[in-house]
Amino acid sequence: MNHKILKGKKGIIFGALDSQSIAWNAALAIHDAGGTFVLTNSPLAIRMGSIDDLAKKTNSKTIGCDATNLEDLNYLIEESVNTLGSKLDFVLHSIGMSVNVRKNRHYTDLKYDWLTKGWDISAVSFHKLLHTLYQQDAMNSWGSIVALSYIAAQRTFPNYSDMAENKAYLESIARSFGYFFGKDKKVRVNTISQSPTPTTAGKGVKGLDAFLNFAEANSPLGNATAMDCAHYIVSLFSDYTQRVTLQNLYHDGGFSSVGVSEEILSKYLKSS
Ligand SMILES: NC(=O)c1ccc[n+]([C@@H]2O[C@H](COP(=O)([O-])OP(=O)(O)OC[C@H]3O[C@@H](n4cnc5c(N)ncnc54)[C@H](O)[C@@H]3O)[C@@H](O)[C@H]2O)c1
Repeated sequence: MNHKILKGKKGIIFGALDSQSIAWNAALAIHDAGGTFVLTNSPLAIRMGSIDDLAKKTNSKTIGCDATNLEDLNYLIEESVNTLGSKLDFVLHSIGMSVNVRKNRHYTDLKYDWLTKGWDISAVSFHKLLHTLYQQDAMNSWGSIVALSYIAAQRTFPNYSDMAENKAYLESIARSFGYFFGKDKKVRVNTISQSPTPTTAGKGVKGLDAFLNFAEANSPLGNATAMDCAHYIVSLFSDYTQRVTLQNLYHDGGFSSVGVSEEILSKYLKSS
């Protein structure tokens, strides 16, 4: 795929940690499509990960920002507009973390200070980002803002723990803030609900392999990869989707609409 449908468009990409990250793949696809951007991640992730390689590949500047910190967000957005030389056309929020999931704490026995931290990073940071972009009037009309979600916001997946609530909250912020961004600035705000994907965040969920295999067997088109997701993000940042907003968009090979597949059923058929 090499359509320059983002030629001339400028933005910010949050969350590229390593080559498996959804944001990393999005950065490569956006670069291929002609878009230019600033890369950002938390200062710790910039030190631990390999974002500098991605910055070189895509001719991008990297600016550190803890997405829960309003001062950092203000600085990042001001600096990005200065660096790129204009207001922004797209922003990708590809951030998630639950301390309870990471430390294997059972859902029935959550630690609430960990819950608060994970909620701030995974969900409230999206409100803080939208608030900062809105206050600075940093988005161009017909711009597009996307965050990443998961179907555990709607259905129970036991090992997803408090990330389920974080994703439900994130999706609700997209609708609530998206209303004002649409009315006041003509900017789209959507979430993409992505298939389970083997990334650092994904691998933090206990039994990810089983999740991946089950979702693969229950999706008519199979699981969407990180690069598939990147291509979908490109379409949502392009001018071809200008009136798509306030949506949670399933990008999962059909998983969300399937009750049960023949493959899964066949595992339960009693041989007569
Ligand atoms: N991997 C999956 O199975 C899957 C499925 C659906 C949705 N998602 C979502 O996709 C998004 C991206 O995750 P990924 O799977 O690419 O994993 P990833 O681990 O590569 O990316 C998560 C990113 O969040 C960043 N981050 C954490 N705390 C931060 C903070 N305080 N400030 C700024 N950045 C911070 C990390 O540094 C990392 O780059 C997340 O929202 C995740 O929940 C993932």
